[in-house]
Amino acid sequence: MRIKNLFLVSILISGCSALAGAGYTPDFDRGIDVRVAIQAAIESAASAGGLVPALPGSPERVQPVWVSMEKSDVGALDGSLFKSAPVAQNKKIAIYEFEPAELGQLADGMYRAFRRAPGYFAYDSLEAALKDLETPPAPPSRAYTMDQAARLKGILPLVKEESIVSAIASLSAFRNRYYRSATGVDSSKWLQQTWGKFAEGRPDISVAAFKHASFPQESVILTMLGTTEPEKVIVIGGHLDSISGSGDNPAPGADDNASGVAATHEVIRTLVEAGYRPSKTIKFMAFAAEEVGLRGSGEVAASFKKAGVAVEGMLNLDMVNYKGSALDIYFVTDNTSAAQNAFLGKLVETYTPYSWGSIKCGYGCSDHASWTKNGYPASIPFESMFDQYNPFIHKPVDTLAQSGGRAEHALKFAKLAVAYAVEMAK
Ligand code: BES
Ligand code: ZN
Repeated sequence: MRIKNLFLVSILISGCSALAGAGYTPDFDRGIDVRVAIQAAIESAASAGGLVPALPGSPERVQPVWVSMEKSDVGALDGSLFKSAPVAQNKKIAIYEFEPAELGQLADGMYRAFRRAPGYFAYDSLEAALKDLETPPAPPSRAYTMDQAARLKGILPLVKEESIVSAIASLSAFRNRYYRSATGVDSSKWLQQTWGKFAEGRPDISVAAFKHASFPQESVILTMLGTTEPEKVIVIGGHLDSISGSGDNPAPGADDNASGVAATHEVIRTLVEAGYRPSKTIKFMAFAAEEVGLRGSGEVAASFKKAGVAVEGMLNLDMVNYKGSALDIYFVTDNTSAAQNAFLGKLVETYTPYSWGSIKCGYGCSDHASWTKNGYPASIPFESMFDQYNPFIHKPVDTLAQSGGRAEHALKFAKLAVAYAVEMAK
């Protein structure tokens, strides 16, 4: 029986591997000349207006997406959402084929059933989705140490609320940052250009676009190369895309998740202002297409794993500017690293006056889950208790005004992320 299943799976893999491997390698780590290349791209994307048209020469047929979900979630949903049986499954997880346009209905159906999405992972290829049927590798255990107090004493006061506010304002000024819309593409180009300025006069800093084969929005990666152990990597970032319904609707996404990208931006800005050079490499990331099944981070994390990149820790900043609960920072305990979460709690206690607690998402609610799934220690410090999160997200009213035009709350997360960067990348 087991052998028969394996055989079936291998036929499925070989059947789609030609498609999956059809000549697309993301150029995640190549420095690009942002100053020259970006402006033209911004202009052409901006002039496309609305949803980005299919790429010239791309086939008429819509490429399907493969979605992996917990079977217990599937059971609670309206059966009509699933037109056919799963293409593969194990005891816990089932994989379905969908057309991208059907994903909106699926998300709506989930929202109706659970009053929150149970979360699902979406992939361009069945081969990538099938990996979800395997048990994720546990990250190797490691020692976390704290000895950078003297250095952080000089750096932490440089973290400023005003620059977070201005980054949230710029990002939420795009009509939306939807993964398929022209303004979603524009927002990624804008960030590449903005982060590109940090590379001026710093040959150790480079900015690259991570291109995704099946959608036009690019993930953005700023690399600060380590001086002594550059092969060891720390990742800090959050998702760039926003959503309101499915399509080209107004979605300022000020909290979800301009706030996390702005906090990431502020960490970079602060470290550059301080003239800080890490011993290990730090990669700051803004992920495309999180809202449609963690697709951007899923591809980035899988490509890092495939390339054997030694990511020693990942910090996900997603929703950090709405204070919905009594404590300041809540660490999500599922789909994250317990050891790294404990270390982050110690960082809060040692370097900040803030309070912290723990919560559960109950599902792979954001990009940390992609890194965990690929065997890397990941964490997400969140803005509130799970049941008290910002009620305006995924709607046209997720604006900076809902946080009083301030970034007081996000500032705490930016400070924590600076302490994390300096203690991890030493
Ligand atoms: N920022 C949210 C996740 C979130 C929302 C965490 C509220 C905690 C409280 C994220 O952008 C999101 O919306 N995720 C999706 C799941 C994803 C797998 C499509 C969700 O939760 O609906
Ligand atoms: Zn989010």
